[in-house]
Amino acid sequence: MRSWIKSLLGALPVIVQSALGQNVIDLTGDGWTVSSKALNISAPGYLPSQVHLDLYNADVIDDPYYGLNDFNLRWIANNNWTYTSDPLPGLSTNAKESWLVFNGLDTFATIELCGKFVGTTDNQFRQYTFDVSDIVRSCHGDPTLSLNFGSAPLIADQIAEDPASEKWPYGPQQVYEFTNRWYIRKEQSDFGWDWGPAFAPAGPWRDAYLVQFEKEESIYVLNTDLDIFRQGQINHEIPDQTKPWVVNASIDFLGSLPDKPSMHIVIKDTESGKPLKSAALENVYTSGQTITGNINIDADAPDLWWPTGMGKQNLYHATITVGGSGQKNPLASVTKRTGFRTIFLNRLNITDEQLAQGIAPGANWHFEINGQEFYAKGSNLIPPDAFWPRVTEERMQRLFDAVVAGNQNMLRVWASGAYQPDFIYDIADERGVLLWSEFQFSDALYPVNETFLEDVAAEVAYNVRRVNHHPSLALWAGGNEIESLELPLVQEADPDNYSYWVGQYEQLFISLILPLVYENSRSISYMPSSTNNGYLWVNLSAPVPMAERYDNTTDGDYYSDTDHYNYDSSVAFDLGSYPIGRFANEFGFHSMPSLQTWRQAVDEDELYFNSTTVMLRNHHYPSGDLSTHNFKNSSMGMSEMTMAVERYYPIPNKEDSVANFSAWCHATQMFQADMYKSEIQFYRRGSGMPERQLGSLYWQLEDIWQAPTWAGIEYDGRWKVLHYVARDIYQPVIVSPYWNYTTGDLEIYVTSDLWVTARGTVNLTWVDLSGNPISGNANTPTSTQFTVGALNTTKIFGTTVSDLDLSNKTNAVLVMSVHAQGHLPNAENGAVSTFIHQNQFTPVWPNEVTLVDPKVEVSYDQGTGLFTVEAKNGVSLYTWLDYPAGVVGYFDENMFTLLPGEKRKIGFTVQTDETGGGWVEGVTVQSLWDQTTK
Ligand SMILES: *[C@@H]1O[C@H](CO)[C@@H](O)[C@H](O)[C@H]1NC(C)=O
Ligand SMILES: *[C@@H]1O[C@H](CO)[C@@H](O)[C@H](O)[C@H]1NC(C)=O
Ligand SMILES: *[C@@H]1O[C@H](CO)[C@@H](O)[C@H](O)[C@H]1NC(C)=O
Ligand SMILES: *[C@@H]1O[C@H](CO)[C@@H](O)[C@H](O)[C@H]1NC(C)=O
Ligand SMILES: *[C@@H]1O[C@H](CO)[C@@H](O)[C@H](O)[C@H]1NC(C)=O
Ligand SMILES: *[C@@H]1O[C@H](CO)[C@@H](O)[C@H](O)[C@H]1NC(C)=O
Repeated sequence: MRSWIKSLLGALPVIVQSALGQNVIDLTGDGWTVSSKALNISAPGYLPSQVHLDLYNADVIDDPYYGLNDFNLRWIANNNWTYTSDPLPGLSTNAKESWLVFNGLDTFATIELCGKFVGTTDNQFRQYTFDVSDIVRSCHGDPTLSLNFGSAPLIADQIAEDPASEKWPYGPQQVYEFTNRWYIRKEQSDFGWDWGPAFAPAGPWRDAYLVQFEKEESIYVLNTDLDIFRQGQINHEIPDQTKPWVVNASIDFLGSLPDKPSMHIVIKDTESGKPLKSAALENVYTSGQTITGNINIDADAPDLWWPTGMGKQNLYHATITVGGSGQKNPLASVTKRTGFRTIFLNRLNITDEQLAQGIAPGANWHFEINGQEFYAKGSNLIPPDAFWPRVTEERMQRLFDAVVAGNQNMLRVWASGAYQPDFIYDIADERGVLLWSEFQFSDALYPVNETFLEDVAAEVAYNVRRVNHHPSLALWAGGNEIESLELPLVQEADPDNYSYWVGQYEQLFISLILPLVYENSRSISYMPSSTNNGYLWVNLSAPVPMAERYDNTTDGDYYSDTDHYNYDSSVAFDLGSYPIGRFANEFGFHSMPSLQTWRQAVDEDELYFNSTTVMLRNHHYPSGDLSTHNFKNSSMGMSEMTMAVERYYPIPNKEDSVANFSAWCHATQMFQADMYKSEIQFYRRGSGMPERQLGSLYWQLEDIWQAPTWAGIEYDGRWKVLHYVARDIYQPVIVSPYWNYTTGDLEIYVTSDLWVTARGTVNLTWVDLSGNPISGNANTPTSTQFTVGALNTTKIFGTTVSDLDLSNKTNAVLVMSVHAQGHLPNAENGAVSTFIHQNQFTPVWPNEVTLVDPKVEVSYDQGTGLFTVEAKNGVSLYTWLDYPAGVVGYFDENMFTLLPGEKRKIGFTVQTDETGGGWVEGVTVQSLWDQTTK
């Protein structure tokens, strides 16, 4: 449970670099004390860490994630906490220069060294450096460092009370728990969100160093911006794939350079070690504390980096050294792992050529990798933990394994968590997962005074430069839902001053941030807010360089990506209720986590659907304040899930109350997965419709804690039904029904996101629930051949349910299976792949089906390590394999339809196992039938 500590370094201090006339003292590790004078608490501390984690580790508090501790522990956030280091040995008192370097302080810190004031911080997302040369030189006694963290909620409230601070009309400023988050630069979801707790943690959450220079002409690298783009490339235009690559390296440093500094680069293939380039950089220049140079590389020389499913993730190591002219010993050297690719968000107007292809007028809204448009399949990444210091690389490796296993090639890194650490981008680079990244602004309007904008500018420049070398970086967006949601809300609240508020929006998200992105990256597209209608024009010398299209649209044309939530489950499967757009970047419905996960956080006697703890951990809908009795709003969310289950699925009614709770949790997950599947099928089919829809990113990939949320993966990594179902429907070639339940119209489509035509056969088989064939196959062809174009869909059958020859609609299942041949993008040696996908359709809702007990059973074969699932007596719908607590991993497939006599062999990928292999004994199988039994 506390294994995060193990991943941290040993005792402080570690001298990481003593050559080159500098002394770098690593401040990470133990050797710290965290204390509160006011509360008379003192405990061992760590760096990086946060107060909650250190107090938990020292047994001062109970597990913050247990029960209602998110309410009980608010006293931590409401107090000041001081991190004090042990005396820093190894500190030289006669160094020429001494600097403190903090890669992340959360958030309001007053820093003292040797008892003397050093400075203050107010932005969680910035790197801070302080010149402490004089303090170190005059330090007598024990040199200790202290970081006094103020209470972020109290400081935000104080700023709000200042008459000089901006005040917004009621409406656009969404409050979850703690108020006034928009005044401060701290992870916004720390103040509460509808899927998470509100701990508002504080502490030195990233690494820190004390850097000393012994001599002149010595530098320490703070940050490196490596930008790789096609010659002439500019962020908002289609990159020309025939042009040479430009590698631009720009290093931010402490210290001083000789008069004529030089830069050299060596680029090697990561896998083979083969050199690609070794040369002096050209056009080297220094501006302030930054040195920059560049070099060209032949257009076809590097092997390209591709996202997963589209080719190899070719990576290169680039080592950049900085030296004097003709100087042998370099002053500094940095190595970044990178890749060659262009990634472009195309929001250009639809061209005549596209119109001629049948694409509806308006604007594009899709991504292109290395000049090729593709279907983006994925979900939204929220902060994986309320406490970042315990997010380990191992945990993120497991999460990204699940992403890739889930056939997802893109995640949207939602704005108002934190900028992802480099190690997460590294994992994404290796796995081929594109990360649409956002600046940390969400569901509010933000201040635009000069101090605030300067602070944001430093934050933006630092983070753009820090992560720009990662080939997985796909996009920068200004913030979440600001243009599509908060502007309409402020228009409603304050129509007379609407243009004033729009002006503020543009000042921050366009006039300030856009140029900062462009100055630091030629390779990444920028848009001001997550969901939008695109722009009319870009003019980099205009005061507002990107003119948003807003509502300058023509009815019937398509311009935008879409964001869709509807908690009225009566229309959950009404295809006409889904938005038609170019790309779906958010959509969803919440569900309960599994019983195994609830047990991590809730007492046994509270394991029922609407128990106090379960209900109050549901923050949909949020309290909107610090109330610890949010029954009114939480019960609306509980009721939405309940109604969705009652509408479409058998209602669990088990005698054993825990078993009943588990069946209810499972039922909410089945609904969630079915609804997402229905939407994903609809969006993917749109790739072949006039809207030319090219993306589906559902809300949300994973959980921050154990609670009812939109997640497909629970807090410890266990997959909900959703992640399995999304994996299935994100396969390259799928067969799917398109059912208008009002008219009875039923169409069947094959949809493919391959880049070439695929061909094959679809088999359509009607059976009754006992598994017997329905005579005449209910007027349906048993088999049909098809051809489906690149990134396209093809209708293979159409009918109406009333024309189907079915004696009893409630006793009928259509099993659809597609068998297709095609090429995966960039397949090695042009290899042909076979794509198989199975789907099913019942002409009534699951709770109307005349179920029979399928007598579904599972057995385990020690030899092969495979489970065999078999239905001995009837059709097993919603076949679900479950595994016990103590192990985390995933089955090869799950939540499928099994016909009697069929034996399905299924493997399980173990991610963590605390049962010593004993978990295999606890694997169970159930089907929809089991939801009906006592
Ligand atoms: C609390 O911390 C803030 C930020 O560092 C500081 O300004 C304030 O003086 C501190 N208050 C106390 C009582 O330590
Ligand atoms: C600017 O706004 C920030 C955040 O609201 C506030 O802390 C600061 O005091 C303001 N500065 C001025 C000069 O108004
Ligand atoms: C795109 O189309 C709009 C009309 O929807 C037009 O106003 C705009 O000038 C066009 N932009 C460009 C760059 O051609
Ligand atoms: C149309 O676009 C212009 C220029 O961006 C903008 O000022 C105006 O508000 C937009 N009109 C509507 C109705 O959105
Ligand atoms: C289903 O048919 C009804 C009646 O014709 C129509 O109003 C509705 O839009 C249709 N839904 C879809 C998704 O086509
Ligand atoms: C849970 O509570 C909500 C709100 O009172 C109610 O509508 C719903 O029926 C309850 N659900 C269950 C499964 O008892």
